[in-house]
Amino acid sequence: MANVTSLKEQVVERFKRLFDDEPTIVVRAPGRVNLIGEHTDYNDGFVLPMAIDRGVWVALQPREDGKVFVYSADFEDGGEFSLNKLEKGTADSWLEYIKGVAAALHDEGKSLTGWEGVVTGNVPIGSGLSSSAALQIAITQAFAAASDFTWEGTPMAKLVQRVENQWMGVQTGIMDQMISANGSAGNALLIDCRSLETTAVPLPERTAVVVLDTMVRRGLVDSKYNERREQCEAAAAVMGVEMLRDVDLYTFLQKQHLLEPLARQRARHVISENERTLLAAIAMQREDSVGLGALMNASHASLRDDFAVSCDELDIFVEIAQRQAGCFGARMTGAGFGGCAVALISAENITQFTTTVTAEYQAATGKKPNVYVCFPTNGAERVM
Ligand code: GLA
Repeated sequence: MANVTSLKEQVVERFKRLFDDEPTIVVRAPGRVNLIGEHTDYNDGFVLPMAIDRGVWVALQPREDGKVFVYSADFEDGGEFSLNKLEKGTADSWLEYIKGVAAALHDEGKSLTGWEGVVTGNVPIGSGLSSSAALQIAITQAFAAASDFTWEGTPMAKLVQRVENQWMGVQTGIMDQMISANGSAGNALLIDCRSLETTAVPLPERTAVVVLDTMVRRGLVDSKYNERREQCEAAAAVMGVEMLRDVDLYTFLQKQHLLEPLARQRARHVISENERTLLAAIAMQREDSVGLGALMNASHASLRDDFAVSCDELDIFVEIAQRQAGCFGARMTGAGFGGCAVALISAENITQFTTTVTAEYQAATGKKPNVYVCFPTNGAERVM
């Protein structure tokens, strides 16, 4: 496992050095990797992510003067704001994520106590493993512990999604926040993004989930992401439904002639991906790794060809992974346009798989990738 204990120790150590005192509270929230169900959440559809053993940690102690002072050990940068003056700053700095959460909690009528703390994490930023959702969910835990209010996963996930949409201006769905808040050790979570009902689904025995980081950092992702959202909403309107979630494959095949070619492709991805995600959860419940892998492969093809959110490096990495011995399936994960792919492999093949795909990807692209096994963990929690 990634260095979970040592990250806690590191953040506590950093706090002591910076504030010359012991923290009274330590919280963590995980990043995530999505096994299947991509670009479905904002269509009210289904997703199947797992929280991973990489995340964000905050060590803090409450203070009486209504101020929040945070030091980011990863950026080597500190910032502060007052709880009496929660206004959005002009720069899109990491502090805005924290201030945005404070403002949203305040708007919900929570009476907030200030704190000083240190933040650190090991989710590579911009790699598509939800470092920003992990940060913001961890901050809801920090405020809950410092201000002594009850923390509940799903309401906090909704609140953090509002911060992303309204404070940060990115129209994300709710998958990342839900899984960071509600993850379950050993399991992926099937999430119905309409009802927000979650079902824990165990990973098949003797399999491993491997993250394949292309090292391509997402560029114009926000604008393309928002554009995909609009295309989906427009397609739903043409089909006479509120959201693409409301169309099953059979109805789509009957009505697809109503859509322009591009809208038809976008809708076909979302509608077929919802179907694949539900089938994937069933495959997992049956310990059917082969079936799950095949659905992951089909998901990648659909994201590449119909939804057009992959990129050359992701396609190359996925193709390399898919042809290795012991690989059940592989696909891009997250928003796309760079970032990471995910592979489901037989646990016996971990060493050989990671060595070979690393070498082959580097030979094909000239980029040195980051390849590692991930373990499904619990969602956010107070650890001290
Ligand atoms: C990003 C968003 C999520 C989801 C994925 C694509 O991670 O934050 O809400 O839409 O992209 O599945």
